[in-house]
Amino acid sequence: NQTFSIAMIGGDGIGPEVVAEARRVLDAALENEDATLRYTAYSLGTGHWLETGETLHDETLEKLREHDAILFGAVGADPQDKRIPSGVVERDLLLKLRFELDHYINLRPTRTYPGVSTPLAATDEFDFLVVREGTEGPYVGNGGSLRRGTEHEIATEVSVNTAHGVQRVVADAFNRAASRRGHITLVHKHNVLTHAGGLWRRSVEEHAARHPEVSWNYMHIDAATIHMVADPQRFDVIVTDNLFGDILTDLAGAVSGGIGMAPSASINGAGTAPSMFEPVHGSAPDIAGQGIADPTAAVLSAGLMLEHLGLNGAAGRIERAVITQLSEWAERSAGTALGTAERGDAYVSRIKTLTD
Ligand code: NAD
Ligand code: IPM
Ligand code: MN
Repeated sequence: NQTFSIAMIGGDGIGPEVVAEARRVLDAALENEDATLRYTAYSLGTGHWLETGETLHDETLEKLREHDAILFGAVGADPQDKRIPSGVVERDLLLKLRFELDHYINLRPTRTYPGVSTPLAATDEFDFLVVREGTEGPYVGNGGSLRRGTEHEIATEVSVNTAHGVQRVVADAFNRAASRRGHITLVHKHNVLTHAGGLWRRSVEEHAARHPEVSWNYMHIDAATIHMVADPQRFDVIVTDNLFGDILTDLAGAVSGGIGMAPSASINGAGTAPSMFEPVHGSAPDIAGQGIADPTAAVLSAGLMLEHLGLNGAAGRIERAVITQLSEWAERSAGTALGTAERGDAYVSRIKTLTD
């Protein structure tokens, strides 16, 4: 029997609500497997910060390093709550985890589900994967302000792109494309951001030369938002920087049927620290505490975690349960009215009916 040690960070708002359902679904998926997940819950987020003044203590970070994987909900304060400055938990907790644990591959798979309607005019299916760089770009915190509060204030956030950082995520994207439909789209803005854009483009050209089985094209970020709405079938693997990838994957979530169904995996590709599995969405203060958040993104992220741990049978069961359940709700036009726990219940019972 294999045992895996999982850190659970529910976080803020709907984070703990959706992670609780993901955990129930994980347990159901592993029921007849020769594998056990042992969970350790970490109470982190704005509540912890208000109580202790700490976001992520060094000792906690060291403990987190010992786990096989991290299941993460969401963090972020309600904008109405004036006690918590913007960015405290986003930067010093979530981004600190991604940076310290070297989550340089941020995978955000996007697909349509049979029966689930999308806001797009055409109802054709699509299935693409965004490989977002996770440790560099404008997220590094390399900024500052001069003459703050004066009319001559200058604020900067310098985007850092290293050859090492770009090469490793581009290399990963090419490998993933090779085992999918064999196409990569580099999304950037090299017509304006010539230095960083040039580095990304050269890196993609070099990898393309080594991967004759993978074709590629380039798209500016602004045009990519058009094509993602007008013709998302054209994408297989998108590789892009940290900020463009952030924005593009909220759009991807929306066009695939809803942000509540968009999973992600923050991967340490070298395996030197645990990877983290989290919905694309945030803490959704507008619906927190009402029991109405869609847990599907967290459930699918948990499925990505099982796949990462090599538990492919159980991972497949989660995916199949979600797909069949979504389509059944669609047939009955029932999905939209359901609460978080009702959806979790349905996924759990659906998994129990699956025979491999
Ligand atoms: P958000 O993703 O929390 O919410 C955007 C919209 O989507 C809201 O209308 C929300 O109700 C809806 N939504 C999100 N998840 C949903 C779900 N599972 N089911 C149904 N509806 C859902 O983004 P925001 O409002 O920009 O940010 C809120 C807070 O979350 C901020 O503090 C932000 O910094 C933080 N945030 C955290 C993460 C993260 O922890 N990974 C990601 C994004 C935003
Ligand atoms: C996401 C979130 C985070 C990001 C924030 C909360 C730091 O929006 O995971 O998409 O920008 O990466
Ligand atoms: Mn985001």
